Amino acid sequence: MSDIEIIKTEIEAQIASVQDIKALDDVRVAALGKKGRITELLKTLGGMPVAERIEFGKKINVIKAELEAKIAAKKQELETKLLNEKLKSEVIDVTLPCRPEVQGRIHPVSKVYEELVAIFAEMGFEVAEGPDIEDQFHNFNALNTPPNHPARQMQDTFYINNDVSKEFDLDNAYVVRTQTSSMQIRTMEKKQPPIRIIAPGRTYRSDYDATHTPMFHQIEGLVVDKTTTLAHLKGCLYDVMKAFFEVDELPVRFRPSYFPFTEPSAEMDIGCLKTKNELKIGAGTDWLEILGCGMVHPNVLRACGIDPEEYQGFAFGMGMDRLAMLKYGIPDLRTFFESDVRWLKNYGFTALDFSSMTSGLSNNGGLAR
Ligand code: DAH
Repeated sequence: MSDIEIIKTEIEAQIASVQDIKALDDVRVAALGKKGRITELLKTLGGMPVAERIEFGKKINVIKAELEAKIAAKKQELETKLLNEKLKSEVIDVTLPCRPEVQGRIHPVSKVYEELVAIFAEMGFEVAEGPDIEDQFHNFNALNTPPNHPARQMQDTFYINNDVSKEFDLDNAYVVRTQTSSMQIRTMEKKQPPIRIIAPGRTYRSDYDATHTPMFHQIEGLVVDKTTTLAHLKGCLYDVMKAFFEVDELPVRFRPSYFPFTEPSAEMDIGCLKTKNELKIGAGTDWLEILGCGMVHPNVLRACGIDPEEYQGFAFGMGMDRLAMLKYGIPDLRTFFESDVRWLKNYGFTALDFSSMTSGLSNNGGLAR
């Protein structure tokens, strides 16, 4: 074997034996770098007779190309090995259950939200969403509650100073919506009947005690069609409440009430048993007020360009936080918004405990408790 063949074999052996990319690079530099063994050989070409130079030059260039190819192949091999090792070490078993101490919980209000959407969706209602910051037209005026209407005092409104460079202008100020009823207007402005929507969302009033927080959640409902009656309202809400509280029998009553945007108006009570330590829904001789409702006032339809001679409808609104308190036995509303993980661990739900009318609303995945 010629010297050059020996050198080639030696370098090939080095390439074959290296274990990492750094060592491979060292081998490359020692062979093909500026002062590498092969480079040094190439430098000797200059002093050779022409015939020998041609033959030796050819040979050495072939060897150089072969070594380069071998180094490239080895590099590829080492990189693939490295990647595989990395993938192996970083593998995650997505089927493993979450560690309980890091597991998140679904908030009871989110749970009730999902449950109500599941119930209403089954009845053919669409979900409508709208802004928390409202103008007074949508929050009050179009809901048959003009400025100075006494009913405005029923709600402790937060007004927003739209333009701080000017004096506060109460009549034109925006508000953070006091009721999701504003979505009745936004829906009817966009869409002609038949309408069947619910609008769940945040609402705001200046109030704070065990059953009131400045931000709370309501769900609004609106049905408008040519032949919608009070009987539909009663039947619909009766079915919804039975489904929500997951009971077969539920005494209900509708008490006459007043809301500016409905005529006639009513409040719905459900039967319950109140004892010192317990509240049982669906049994006993006590009553619990659960929502406000009524037949949409003709003025409200008119304000949205819907002819009250042709169409009529019903509306209702209820507090989702209150429903969560009643269904899941949570005594103080203020704790809902304290972001205390211990509270959430106790009252929250697991992520897989989703609500559906076919697999069950609250008892399918098991409560976190
Ligand atoms: N917006 C009312 C409130 O916040 C609740 C309500 C009552 C909504 C009657 C309605 C309704 O749609 O018909 O107190």
